[in-house]
Amino acid sequence: MAEDRNTFYITTPIYYPSDRLHIGNSYTTVAADAIARYRRLTGYDVWFLTGTDEHGQKIQRSAEKAGKDPQAFVDEIVAWIKELWAALDISYDDFIRTTEKRHREAVQEIFSRLYRQGDIYRGRYEGWYCTPCESFWTPRQVQERTCPDCGRPVEMVSEESYFFSLSRYTERILEHIRSHPQFIQPPARKNEMINNFLRPGLEDLCVSRTTFDWGIPVPFDEEHVTYVWLDALSNYITALGYPGDETLFQKYWPADIHLIGKDIVRFHTIYWPAFLMALGLPLPKQVFSHGWLLLSEGKMSKSRGNVIDPMILVDRYGSDSIRYFLLREIPFGTDGIFSNESLLQRINSDLANDLGNLLSRTVTMVEKYFEGTISAPVDTGGHESDGELRELALATPPEVSVLMDKLQFSSALEALWNLVKRSNKYIDINTPWLLARDESRKERLGTILYNLCESLRFISVLLLPFMPRTPPRIWSQLGIDDRADLQGWNSLERWGLLPPGVRCRRSVDLFPRLDIGKELASLLEEDHEKRESASAARAAESLPGKDVQKMESSPQAAVTIEEFSRLELRVAEIISAEPVPGTDHLLKLLLDLGEEKRQVVAGLASHYLPSELHGKKTLVACNLKPAKIQGVLSEGMVLAASTEEGKVVLTTVDADIPPGSRVT
Ligand code: MSP
Repeated sequence: MAEDRNTFYITTPIYYPSDRLHIGNSYTTVAADAIARYRRLTGYDVWFLTGTDEHGQKIQRSAEKAGKDPQAFVDEIVAWIKELWAALDISYDDFIRTTEKRHREAVQEIFSRLYRQGDIYRGRYEGWYCTPCESFWTPRQVQERTCPDCGRPVEMVSEESYFFSLSRYTERILEHIRSHPQFIQPPARKNEMINNFLRPGLEDLCVSRTTFDWGIPVPFDEEHVTYVWLDALSNYITALGYPGDETLFQKYWPADIHLIGKDIVRFHTIYWPAFLMALGLPLPKQVFSHGWLLLSEGKMSKSRGNVIDPMILVDRYGSDSIRYFLLREIPFGTDGIFSNESLLQRINSDLANDLGNLLSRTVTMVEKYFEGTISAPVDTGGHESDGELRELALATPPEVSVLMDKLQFSSALEALWNLVKRSNKYIDINTPWLLARDESRKERLGTILYNLCESLRFISVLLLPFMPRTPPRIWSQLGIDDRADLQGWNSLERWGLLPPGVRCRRSVDLFPRLDIGKELASLLEEDHEKRESASAARAAESLPGKDVQKMESSPQAAVTIEEFSRLELRVAEIISAEPVPGTDHLLKLLLDLGEEKRQVVAGLASHYLPSELHGKKTLVACNLKPAKIQGVLSEGMVLAASTEEGKVVLTTVDADIPPGSRVT
C-alpha cells in the first residue's frame, strides 16, 4: 500500500441520477476539482474519482414514474451529468457508474467475502426504512414515522435480509476516530458521530433487500439485492480495481480525501470504516464534509421546482465565474446562501473590476507607452511600493498552499485577491499616466509596467486550480502563452522571471461588466418559466399526495388585496375522514362549514390517521372549482403547510370559533 508517497487520491460522492443535478451538487464536485488541480500543480500524482450511484428503490421509483426502464432512465441522466462536468471543467480521472460490470462484479465478490468470513449473516429485518435516504432506522430513532435525517415519512419494512455485523466494530471505529484527529473534518461532525451514533452503540446493519430488484444481486442468493450504501461506498475501491487488478489500488489507496456533504457523514465515517475494517483494508485519511448551498427561501428542492440549474448559469456567465463564486462566497464547511444577485455582484466587483481591469489597464498602457513590448525593469531604489508588491507576490503562494491544505478555498481566494487589489493600488499610487508625460521618467514607467505584468503572471498561475480557463487568456495578453516554464507553481519561487521584450496583446475583456438589473430580470424570467413547467408537471403527475404542494406560493407572484379577497377561506370542522379506495395518499374529508357540509379530498393519508383528524378545526379554500380526484368529488381544499422534505401539517385555528367563520 502506498505510503510516504507523492500520490493524492480524492473522491466526490457518487450522485443519484434520479434527476438532473443542481448547483448544490455541483458545489462538491467543483471543490474537489480545485483540490485535484491544486495538487497536480504542486507536483502530486493525482487520482480524482467521481461517478453515479445508480441502484436502489429511489431510482427504481423515479424510473417507474417516468415510465422508463431503470437503465435507460439513468443512462440519459448520466449523459447529462457528464456534459455538466465538461461544462464546469471538472478534470476527473475516472467516472464510475455503479451499473458497470467492473463495479457489479467487485461488489459481489466483496459481499461473498464478507459472508464467507462471517461478517455478513442471514436474518430477518423488521423496521423503518427511508427510501429517499435509503436508510434503515430503529423504532427508537424514528419519531412520528418520519426519518430522523430528512424528516420525510418512513415506511415499515419486514423482510428476509442479510445483515452486516456492524455492532462488532463500534469500539474499533471509536478508537480510530479518537486516534486520528484529522479523520473527520470539520471537528463538529466528529462529535455528532460519537455522541449520536457510536456512544449509544451500533446495531447490525441490514445489507440486502428483497422487495425490489434494481440492485446488484447477492451472488449466492439472487432473490436479494445488495443494500445501496454497501454497493455505493464500495465504488471508492472498486474504481481502483479492487478486488482483482489492483495496480491502481496499490498505488492510490487509502484515499487522501473523501469530500462529501454534511448529510452523508454517518455513512462515510461509520459504515464505510466498518466495511473496510472487515475487508482488512486501511481507512481513508480524511472524510471532509462541507455545508449546504441554500436559497434565501430555504433548501433547494426538485419538488418545489426552485433548484438552480448550473448549466444555465455556465451558459450565461462561463464556468470560471461560477466556479469562482462557489469557492469564494462560502467558507467551506459551513452552509451558505446562493443568490443570483450575489453571484452577479461578485462577477462585477471581483472579476470584472478587480481582475479584469488590472489586466486591461496594464496591457493597454504597455501598448500605449511601449508599443506593446515589456521593458526591462530598472531598480533605482527608493520605491517602497515596488518592494511591497514583490514581497506580497512572493508570500502569496505559500499562504495559498497552507489554506488549500486545509480546504479553505474562500480564504485562499481572498489571499489571492489581496494581490490583485495591491496591484491595482500600485497603479493608483504610481500614476503611470502622469509619468508618461515626462520623457525622462520613461525608465521608471517601464519598471512599473514590468512589475504589473510580473504580478499578473503570479496571479494567473495562482488562479489555475480555481478558474482554469482564465490563466491562458491572461498569458495570451501578456505574450507568454507558449512559455510553460513561466506557468508552473515552481515559477512562483522567484520574482522577475518574466522576460523583458515579450509582446503584450490587448484582447477582449476577461469579464465584461454585467448590467445586474437586466441580468436578474432575465434569470427571473427563466426561473419563472421553469417553475411553471415544474408545477404543470406536478399537476399532470396527478399524484394526490402532491396536491398540498400546489399551494406553495411563488415568491415573485405578488397578488393585490382585491385578488386575495376573491379567495373564500373559511374555518371548517372535520366531521369524518376515510381513505379513498385504491390510493395511498388520499383521504375523503366531510367538513362542517356552519350552514353547509362539504366533501373535500386531501393528500393527507401519509401524514395523519383518519381518527387523528376527527373534530379538528382547519382552514378551507371554499370557492375553488369543484374537481374529481381519483373519481371522488372534492369541493374545496384544506390548507396545510409542507416542508420541502415532504412533511405535511394541517392548519388549525388558535381558539374556538364556529365552523363557517370567514378568514379575512
Ligand atoms: N448517492 C449518495 C452518495 C453516495 S457516496 C458513496 C448521495 N447522492 S446525492 O445525489 O443525493 O447527493 C450527493 C451529494 O450532493 C451529497 O454530498 C450531498 O450532500 C450533496 N448536496 C445535495 N444538495 C446540496 C446542496 N444544496 N448543497 C451542497 N451539497 C448538496 O447522497
